[in-house]
Amino acid sequence: MDTTTIAAPGPTREPDGDPSGGQVLRPARTFARWSVRHGLAALILARSARKGDLMSRLLRDAAVREDPYDLFEQLRARGRLVPSALGSVTTTHAVVQDVLRSEHFGVGFDRSDLPRPLRMALQFGEDVDAAGVVDPPSMLVIDPPDHTRFRRLVSRAFTPRAISAFEPMIERTTTALLDRLEQQDGTVDLVEQWAAQLPVLVIAELLGVPVARKEEFLWWGAAAAATLDPGLPWRRYVEAERALRALHRFLRGHFARLRREPGDDLVSRLVGLPEEESLTERELHATVMLLLGAGFETTVNLLGNAVVALDAHRDQWETLAADPSRWDNAVEEVLRWDSPVQITGRTAQEGAEVDGRPIPPGQRVTVLLGAANRDPDVFADPARFDITRANAREHLAFSAGIHYCLGAGLARLEAVVAMRLLTERFPKLRVAGRPTRRDLHVLRGFEHLPVTLR
Ligand code: HEM
Repeated sequence: MDTTTIAAPGPTREPDGDPSGGQVLRPARTFARWSVRHGLAALILARSARKGDLMSRLLRDAAVREDPYDLFEQLRARGRLVPSALGSVTTTHAVVQDVLRSEHFGVGFDRSDLPRPLRMALQFGEDVDAAGVVDPPSMLVIDPPDHTRFRRLVSRAFTPRAISAFEPMIERTTTALLDRLEQQDGTVDLVEQWAAQLPVLVIAELLGVPVARKEEFLWWGAAAAATLDPGLPWRRYVEAERALRALHRFLRGHFARLRREPGDDLVSRLVGLPEEESLTERELHATVMLLLGAGFETTVNLLGNAVVALDAHRDQWETLAADPSRWDNAVEEVLRWDSPVQITGRTAQEGAEVDGRPIPPGQRVTVLLGAANRDPDVFADPARFDITRANAREHLAFSAGIHYCLGAGLARLEAVVAMRLLTERFPKLRVAGRPTRRDLHVLRGFEHLPVTLR
């Protein structure tokens, strides 16, 4: 389908009035949601960061956000599973893998474990129109059997064959972006003009959404990314929810349109599933929102991280420019060395254990993917960036187990094609000035990346 020609549906800006009359209670509901999900965590994290809790510092401290790797080593020195303010935390590759693959750990969250006032606040704050990527029924936060059902429906679009069919489109899109860059002189922001653009255009094609609304996708994606961080400040939470509401409104129109005029894309297939397989409206929203968010909020980071890593290791940039067959392994090394998703976690269920020690049901284990990817027991001299590293692919940047990233193949392909074409077109590209990190903790990437092209 030519997605550029689809007429944009109705406005996505916040309407002046809510016809349901719910606008009176809406601010109170938003506050209830924020309090339980972020406000409380912010308080706990702030207090324990002051007491020296390393995990809390990781999630709060701007300096640690810039460079978390020293703190990872301090945590590693304390053991394979370290108690922290929000459960326990691990930096060990083997433990991370065990937890992610164990059927005794899940992603679901049992509200009945919460104290009654918090349960009531959550119930009062319930609002499907503000749901984000970490709200059920998003695949990321649901356990089997529902997880298995959603994943099976969506994974048909991500088979190796389906992914490689995207290669010509990725090449075409990258080339068009580079043509535009070519017109520019002086310093350009490579994230804004290239790294953020490619993934959003690719995911738009995959999901049959109009490319003309690219700027809004970027806004929605940024909101979805922010809600991944625990302890989000009130103002940022409100802004994120505003974007999420707009996204839900857009999706309603988009699904209706594809029901009338289906295309050859994943969402057309999902909205047209036969009765016995069909997803509810809420499941559709959660699934497509996750694909939109996960599809570009992470890949943009991989591209930015790759450029900065290779600029700092210029000899390796030159090696790749001379021998593009090395790009596959180089992308794995970037994923390992500066992982775009740094943190995830699981909740212990009945029978869970780590290293033979039982973990009580309900306890949270945070797994630091970025730290596991620098575990010296797996990666020799782990802080060294080396595109020839033989076992770079053993990283856990795409997680492991049943939630292993569905888009890993697509992300790898995008990165290899985009980086190869970038170095071919601008072999003399250099970072010019200080790149700025995104104000995020779970995701790691650059907001601005000033470069000179020639
Ligand atoms: C460099 C790029 C990417 C990275 C580093 C990345 C990383 C991850 C990680 C770490 C998870 C699992 C989190 C957990 O275990 O709790 C995940 C899940 C997921 N990713 Fe990605 N991702 C990337 C790109 C993509 C793309 C391009 C798509 C889709 C177009 C995508 C779709 C998904 C989906 C749907 C899930 C949920 C899978 C499930 O819960 O079963 N990702 N990703």
